[in-house]
Amino acid sequence: MSFQYKETEMFAEDCAVTDLAKKHGTPLFIYSKAAITANWEQFAKHWPAPNKLCYAVKANSNLAVLNLLARLGAGFDIVSGGELARVLAAGGKAADVVFSGVGKSHDEIAYALDQGIGCFNVESAAELERIQEIAASKGVTAPVSLRVNPDVDAQTHPYIATGLKANKFGIAMSEARDVFRRAAQLPNLNVCGADCHIGSQILTPQPFLDAAERMFTLVSDLRQEGIQITHLDMGGGFGIPYQHEDKLEVGNYLQTLQQKAAELGNLKLMLEPGRSIVGNAGIMVTKVEYYKPGSEKNFLLVDAGMNDLLRPALYNAYHAIQPVVRHDGVDEQLVDVVGPVCETGDFFGHARHLAAQEGDLLAVMNAGAYGFTMASNYNTRPRAAEVMVHGDSATLIREREPLESLWQGEHILGESV
Ligand code: LLP
Repeated sequence: MSFQYKETEMFAEDCAVTDLAKKHGTPLFIYSKAAITANWEQFAKHWPAPNKLCYAVKANSNLAVLNLLARLGAGFDIVSGGELARVLAAGGKAADVVFSGVGKSHDEIAYALDQGIGCFNVESAAELERIQEIAASKGVTAPVSLRVNPDVDAQTHPYIATGLKANKFGIAMSEARDVFRRAAQLPNLNVCGADCHIGSQILTPQPFLDAAERMFTLVSDLRQEGIQITHLDMGGGFGIPYQHEDKLEVGNYLQTLQQKAAELGNLKLMLEPGRSIVGNAGIMVTKVEYYKPGSEKNFLLVDAGMNDLLRPALYNAYHAIQPVVRHDGVDEQLVDVVGPVCETGDFFGHARHLAAQEGDLLAVMNAGAYGFTMASNYNTRPRAAEVMVHGDSATLIREREPLESLWQGEHILGESV
């Protein structure tokens, strides 16, 4: 949508991708402000207040992205003290933040309480006791929701399915009522919510509807016991097409949730979308370093590696790869697009048809979510620069990492050692 060819050249909104790559170098992440805004509106238009959308920061945590979303009215879903600090640095408010994650440390809980966190999404009975203890020591009351595992099959990649009994996430549905009762007795907790998150990159509505059914029943049961749940957070997980998949239309699901909430009355709904807000709003631009023909396979070696975009290596995830300048009339070759990192898993695409040669630019599509945030410095490779386009302007929203910064804080042993 925001990355389109004008004749033979790819544009990010009204900026020529070639110009951006020339100016900022490669590998380069380019995000479209218009695309992020449009994706946000797809949810927001079906989701009137007091319902809330808490953007999942882990999908793309650049300050400019968070700031744009805060300005659009977003709350945030975080999984670490670091992400909370980022949200605050970007102009978000702690009161609009929910804190998820299975392993919240003592320090992270204390920091979140000091900042006035909106809600802890608690993932175990032990965490509940820990939050009670820290809140008591500070003389405050902690707002908590319990993350329940509704045991539905999200039909997604096993590494990103989280709603099954076999996963480490959440509290089993069979134990949930007991844990809620315990929470309600703890004096420094305000048990206000229930939440779930069944997995990521889910492309059919059924798993969401199954989970909702179970969660609404739970909320209704708890209320009958006198535990006043005032919000239900159904998590994120909305998939996007990476290849030829049908788009998941969220409108009907969002309406269904609101109808069910209206039946119960006085229930605020929350969602935690990540990928669906930023995934298709970003590309990663990389330059072809070498064309390497072989007896079995031909390789295009590019200057980005698995350290820049890990999804293909980690999940065998598919990302479309398109030439930044189309050479119409030049024969396409069957190639594997691979990076320079010393791992066979360092690839972006197998058996792709491309007519690219040394020096050409390629765009790895749908790289806005879980791209830069999962990047590393493996092979002592500085992380890429990030740019956000808005119409015919572009802002550098993160500089390429200077090489020396990669060993900042490292120390060699003294000569006498
Ligand atoms: N809420 C919770 C509690 C989560 O754990 C997640 C994602 C989300 C919300 C946002 O889910 P989304 O709407 O983005 O699907 N690195 C993987 C995805 C891992 C997702 C982890 N949790 C990937 O690149 O596909």
